[in-house]
Amino acid sequence: MTLLNSFQADDIRDRLAGKSVLVTGGTGSFGKQFVRTVLGLDCVKRLIVLSRDEQKHFDMMREFDDRKYPAIRYFLGDVRDLERLQMAFRNVDIVVHAAAQKHVPLAEYNPTECLRTNVWGAENVVRAALDNGVETVMALSTDKAVNPVNLYGASKLAAEKVFIAANNLSGQGQTRFGAVRYGNVVGSRGSVVPFFRNLIRQNADALPITDDRMTRFWITLQQGVNFVLSSMCMMKGGEIFIPKIPSMKMTDLAHAMAPDMPIKIVGIRPGEKLHEVMVNEEEARTTRELADRYVIHPMLSYWAGGDQPEGEPVPEDFRYASNTNTWWLPEPELLGMISRLDMDL
Ligand SMILES: NC(=O)c1ccc[n+]([C@@H]2O[C@H](COP(=O)([O-])OP(=O)(O)OC[C@H]3O[C@@H](n4cnc5c(N)ncnc54)[C@H](OP(=O)(O)O)[C@@H]3O)[C@@H](O)[C@H]2O)c1
Repeated sequence: MTLLNSFQADDIRDRLAGKSVLVTGGTGSFGKQFVRTVLGLDCVKRLIVLSRDEQKHFDMMREFDDRKYPAIRYFLGDVRDLERLQMAFRNVDIVVHAAAQKHVPLAEYNPTECLRTNVWGAENVVRAALDNGVETVMALSTDKAVNPVNLYGASKLAAEKVFIAANNLSGQGQTRFGAVRYGNVVGSRGSVVPFFRNLIRQNADALPITDDRMTRFWITLQQGVNFVLSSMCMMKGGEIFIPKIPSMKMTDLAHAMAPDMPIKIVGIRPGEKLHEVMVNEEEARTTRELADRYVIHPMLSYWAGGDQPEGEPVPEDFRYASNTNTWWLPEPELLGMISRLDMDL
């Protein structure tokens, strides 16, 4: 298993000790697991959860009560609203930007809504972070930002560019921006495992799969959170971090979850890819390989010193994709991982 599973708690505790941390989209799947993890480390000064819907905040307050966790703050706000972000980011040291509109078909139908949240929201996070002297901003991105074929992916690619280029705005100032990029999170809201689980519970006739060749990377919510935290510990500014994780075939997943249920091929959906790509050949030129991750360094980095980045350069035609990955999850292992999943529905 990768280093992603061996949570480097001491390093992370050192990085977060006494800091004020804010997570946008803190009431979402990632956000809640992030909050659970950071509160478990018991080292931050403040942990601010920012998102719009008050009901989600209210539900979360029941689980993470501020009497038990005095560091936590519930801050209603919209990343489209710069003024509100300016207020939220006051005296904040670290921002993790997880808020997003993430559903591909909804973004296709409502393109400007997706752009407002994912792109202008990113720009607002950058501005508020610079104005408030935030030290570190780590944004969450997705494989769909690589060679995008839908607006969600294109908006996340634009957001990545906004964050990486923000290091130029900061110049020699103190604010540093980076991003992590990973694929479908198994068990997150709207993902395939809860979807299949519901169909199995309802005794459906078959499990639908769009294409029997389809492959995906496998990352759990906790691994995603650990990855964001460990990437934050090594970030210098301008990097995109990509975890080394296993691949699975969608048909193997369906078979592992319901061995006796037939699979129905329903055809690839608009904006869906057959395989996930996390580093493409163009990005390979500035990509370095570490033991448990790839790091894409910026093509233009006027702010950076002349330090040689860590790790080995990848081959020129390198591509990190779910179908050509060398690490696969066989069915029995998939089943074990599904049963251990901390589902966040
Ligand atoms: N889930 C995956 O498979 C996956 C894979 C790769 C990357 N990612 C990325 O990881 C991040 C987190 O994803 P997730 O699965 O945790 O999503 P999620 O469960 O849908 O949570 C999204 C969060 O963002 C908040 N939000 C949405 N629009 C907002 C706005 N305009 N202003 C403030 N908050 C807003 C939502 O709360 P309100 O609606 O109440 O505001 C919610 O708290 C996203 O950036 C996503 O692109 C996800």
